[in-house]
Amino acid sequence: MYQILKAERLAEKIFLMDVEAPRVAKTCQPGEFVIVKMDERGERIPLTICDYNRNAGTVTIVFQIVGASTRRMAGLGKGDAFQDFVGPLGQPSEFVKENFDEVKGRKYLFVAGGVGTAPVYPQVKWMREHGIEADVIVGAKTKDLLILEEEMKAVAANLYITTDDGSYGRKGMVTEVIRDLVENQGRQYDICVAIGPMIMMKFVCLLTKELGLPTIVSMNPVMVDGTGMCGACRLSVGGEVKFACVDGPEFDGHLVDFDEAMKRQQIYKTEEGRAMLRLAEGETHHGGCGHCG
Ligand code: NAD
Ligand code: FES
Repeated sequence: MYQILKAERLAEKIFLMDVEAPRVAKTCQPGEFVIVKMDERGERIPLTICDYNRNAGTVTIVFQIVGASTRRMAGLGKGDAFQDFVGPLGQPSEFVKENFDEVKGRKYLFVAGGVGTAPVYPQVKWMREHGIEADVIVGAKTKDLLILEEEMKAVAANLYITTDDGSYGRKGMVTEVIRDLVENQGRQYDICVAIGPMIMMKFVCLLTKELGLPTIVSMNPVMVDGTGMCGACRLSVGGEVKFACVDGPEFDGHLVDFDEAMKRQQIYKTEEGRAMLRLAEGETHHGGCGHCG
């Protein structure tokens, strides 16, 4: 069992938990995810890692209530435990694997939208720990839905907060801040990392394409079982079939077909839709677990 050492409500329907999981904490990297399961009958929930403490053996997860399972999960508190806490899964962020001198020579812009702020945090923290200054834009619908502001402030070189309704920070969406920084303030970036709702990542990518700014996105939102078996996270990336849980979750955002991914996500929600996708996609429906043929 994996004990919950801390449980905190960050905003409406958004919760943070520190979970005792020493083996995951020992090896996990920014960009990777875990699968949590409350009990024998519980649904498998894939969540991108928000933070980890290798010495304390803890992993921090942040989740939003989106259905029955996450609602049940939000009812857990300090002292409760998960039956399963599997990970780290997926591929770490590109910069973790790349030549460090090249990474150090780049100027990174991180763009976090809503709950997507949680997976952005360990990446910016990694940058800070490795002596690399990174700018961060955090967008939220309204002040009350802004999360991890203090944590992000502590690791970002410059933090720009924007709310859709102007209740805190600037007024407007993250795309407006990107345009302002690059076009009006003359900021130069080599890479943008954008993580948030699919629609945000789509529009960030449309803009950064126009600005000639390479962009990485995290396709965590399309994952369901997180193991390559359900076929939910099938994507077209540069015309190739990829699976977010096996090949990602991070991809070159300029190559991701967001319209197809969002349409597919809707179809996947019903039994009839899943059957249709299985039929249409044949052998490429699944993500390569190798055991379900
Ligand atoms: P939200 O709808 O409140 O949006 C957050 C911010 O994204 C907005 O404030 C705005 O600045 C920006 N945004 C939204 N639509 C935009 C558009 N059309 N153009 C430009 N910018 C736009 O976000 P939320 O409700 O917190 O998001 C929840 C979603 O985030 C869920 O669908 C979840 O799956 C997803 N999520 C994604 C990841 C990931 O790894 N990509 C991680 C956690 C959550
Ligand atoms: Fe099921 Fe990737 S989440 S195949």
